[in-house]
Amino acid sequence: MLKIAITGASGLVGSRIIDLLGQDFTFIPISHNQLDITNKEKVFRFFGEISFDFLIHLAAYTNVTKAEEEKEIAYLINVKGTSYLFDLAVSKKKKFIFFSTDFVFSGKNPPYFENSKPEPVGVYGLTKYQAELLISPKTYPNSMIIRIAYPYRAQFRKKADFFRKFKSFLEEKKPLKMITDALMTPTFIDDIAIGLKYLVKNFTNDIFHLVGSQSLSPFEAASLIARVFNLDKDLISKISFEEYVKNHPGIPQFSEIKSKKNIFFRMKSFEEGLSAIKKQLSLD
Ligand SMILES: NC(=O)c1ccc[n+]([C@@H]2O[C@H](COP(=O)([O-])OP(=O)(O)OC[C@H]3O[C@@H](n4cnc5c(N)ncnc54)[C@H](OP(=O)(O)O)[C@@H]3O)[C@@H](O)[C@H]2O)c1
Repeated sequence: MLKIAITGASGLVGSRIIDLLGQDFTFIPISHNQLDITNKEKVFRFFGEISFDFLIHLAAYTNVTKAEEEKEIAYLINVKGTSYLFDLAVSKKKKFIFFSTDFVFSGKNPPYFENSKPEPVGVYGLTKYQAELLISPKTYPNSMIIRIAYPYRAQFRKKADFFRKFKSFLEEKKPLKMITDALMTPTFIDDIAIGLKYLVKNFTNDIFHLVGSQSLSPFEAASLIARVFNLDKDLISKISFEEYVKNHPGIPQFSEIKSKKNIFFRMKSFEEGLSAIKKQLSLD
């Protein structure tokens, strides 16, 4: 069985990938407390002691709003950390898969495909793009970039994704102000795992978007959550993107991201993802 070393193994996306693909691959999960990826020497020492076929790199500084103030830390983790892991993979001639984001795009001229030009508007997106440039599939034939967007899953105690944040607000009968003039492309993490399994088994030196098949406004997304989970949609009011970004800088407005290269698996729409989650939670 292929041996996959995976960073960010205890994060939102990584932990679900390991849960779902544990029968297909042998994972070597690497969490932050085992290895700080910003320490080059430790990275090389750590990987010197293990054998693996693939290195899938998900660990990242992911707090988009805070990154605007903590630029150096975001750079250190997302750019330097990635460069150390990439150098390590190159030195060992191992396959390297880097997880990136729709936030590398400006959100000004959608839709965005794999070959669209990145032009990040915030620090988080910029650091992820700088990392993409370092490990560009052109520089090392054993590398691949997978961009995902607004990942969500049924349950995960450690971190609430946007879906569970919106849902908890509505369950707790708290009012929600949602943007009407913006787009997001929610992606069911279980689908990311299925797409990743295909890409590992059919590795090519390229960039892929593994993203949901529906883009909608945050207002529409919250309204859909209210409908599917029978929650009170009257708690949801409207706010403009301009108003919202005053307190949440660094996010692209029209994050409509699509794929021309994913011809192997049909990713769920948000509505289909919510129905799948409802089943997983045994609410159906
Ligand atoms: N979540 C999103 O909305 C989203 C959207 C698009 C793309 N992505 C990308 O998808 C990947 C996974 O995201 P996610 O949401 O699963 O992230 P996450 O839940 O925030 O997990 C990130 C992981 O990275 C670890 N980490 C942080 N700094 C580290 C360091 N210096 N050394 C080693 N590990 C470190 C964290 O450990 P600790 O928690 O212990 O610090 C955490 O387990 C990331 O590359 C992200 O950029 C995420």
